[in-house]
Amino acid sequence: MSSIDYIKDNKQKFLDELFDLLRLPSVSADPAYKNDVLKTAEFVKNSLISAGADNVEVCETAGYPIVYGEKIIDPKLPTVLVYGHYDVQPADPLELWDSPAFEPVIKNEKIYARGACDDKGQMYMHVKAFETMMKTNTLTTNVKFMIEGEEEVGSDNLGVFVKNNKEKLAADIILISDTSMISLDTPSITVGLRGLSYLQVEVTGPNRDLHSGVYGGAVANPINELCKMIASLKDENNKITIPGFYDKVVELTADERKALNSAPFDLDEYKKDLNIDAIEGEDGYTTLERAGIRPTLDVNGIWGGYIGQGAKTVLPSKAFAKISMRLVPNQVSGEITELFTNHFKSIAPDSVKVKVTPHHGGEPAVTPTDSVAYAAASDAFVEAWGKAPIPTRDGGSIPIVSLFKKELGLDTVLMGFGLDSDAIHSPNEHYGIANFMKGIETITLFYKHFAKKFN
Ligand code: BES
Ligand code: MN
Ligand code: MN
Repeated sequence: MSSIDYIKDNKQKFLDELFDLLRLPSVSADPAYKNDVLKTAEFVKNSLISAGADNVEVCETAGYPIVYGEKIIDPKLPTVLVYGHYDVQPADPLELWDSPAFEPVIKNEKIYARGACDDKGQMYMHVKAFETMMKTNTLTTNVKFMIEGEEEVGSDNLGVFVKNNKEKLAADIILISDTSMISLDTPSITVGLRGLSYLQVEVTGPNRDLHSGVYGGAVANPINELCKMIASLKDENNKITIPGFYDKVVELTADERKALNSAPFDLDEYKKDLNIDAIEGEDGYTTLERAGIRPTLDVNGIWGGYIGQGAKTVLPSKAFAKISMRLVPNQVSGEITELFTNHFKSIAPDSVKVKVTPHHGGEPAVTPTDSVAYAAASDAFVEAWGKAPIPTRDGGSIPIVSLFKKELGLDTVLMGFGLDSDAIHSPNEHYGIANFMKGIETITLFYKHFAKKFN
């Protein structure tokens, strides 16, 4: 049987299995889900075994385990190392889901569930592509799987695992499906990802919550001060004001910018999809550039004072915010965290105390377009989609990509099949069945073309 036929014949089986995977609430951020995360690792292990992988293990780490499996058909052949993650973002706010986050359903040919796209759906395509090649005797290279459970919380233990297992992970290329493509009509391959610096700030005013009538106007309100400080982090052109922030940013050439902006983009659709009347961003850059090749600073959460029912006239003692910055080549996460910390402390008025706590970070990455693996991926898209993929830069972060380059010396091909509109990390996350099925096909074709290049 041809691999195309196998994929077609097994569509329902693939979807049923993916649904079982999506029913496991593997939320890595919330300790309440610990058992579910561990069960999900077992599920991934069993799915690799039944697909035909050897030496499948659930590898312990200081956090959640990493699932490893491999099929070495001939040590002389090239080896593809597939990376993915089985953990998901929290489902909150639950009330905004049209159907429960961990009870997958199909609507309009799309699978709705937390993780449907990021990354269970995309990761599982690789398991099913592998199964397809095993069952149809069409696997043409060696393959290794490394599926982790802490991606959504910063992959804290993956670095150690990679460092300690260089031999086990030896490969020729890393293959990841955890990004998006432009649309079903316009396939693309991601060739750049942003990095990340994430921190929490705590601003303390008086030593206790105060009556806002008795003390208001005479004592600094930490929420007011925090808002002022945050507002000052961008100027009227939406440039970030932290001294040194842009020093290491690599500007794209005019040609590179032109290529990036030639990707199809409909501003009206974009605004309509988000229900916004106008867009906003750094002066001098297009929307595609702002969301892909420029660094950003965003408040991810802010709290303090009274947020219960009704009103309470309080002048709070403390205010908090979670702030993240997306980074671009050649910014360095640790350096940016330090620049932020020093600047944020320097702009605080004497009336408050500021504490900055770094969360996690990751480095930006660019992947080559002139490699054998990129050419194989491109050939696979041409064969499956009838069109050459456009190289694009995604705004999200996958810190492991730069880590792989540093520790294993390996480049990555980011063959993502999600759409920006799939609502990853949001309520009603979904993934098109067509993306899932065609993705499986494209992945099998990648192996075919990749092996060919070595003949
Ligand atoms: N799959 C995403 C990253 C992504 C999404 C890249 C869309 C390109 C397009 C990944 O699971 C993710 O969410 N990463 C985090 C970073 C991590 C350090 C928590 C992110 O980008 O916020
Ligand atoms: Mn992901
Ligand atoms: Mn994610």
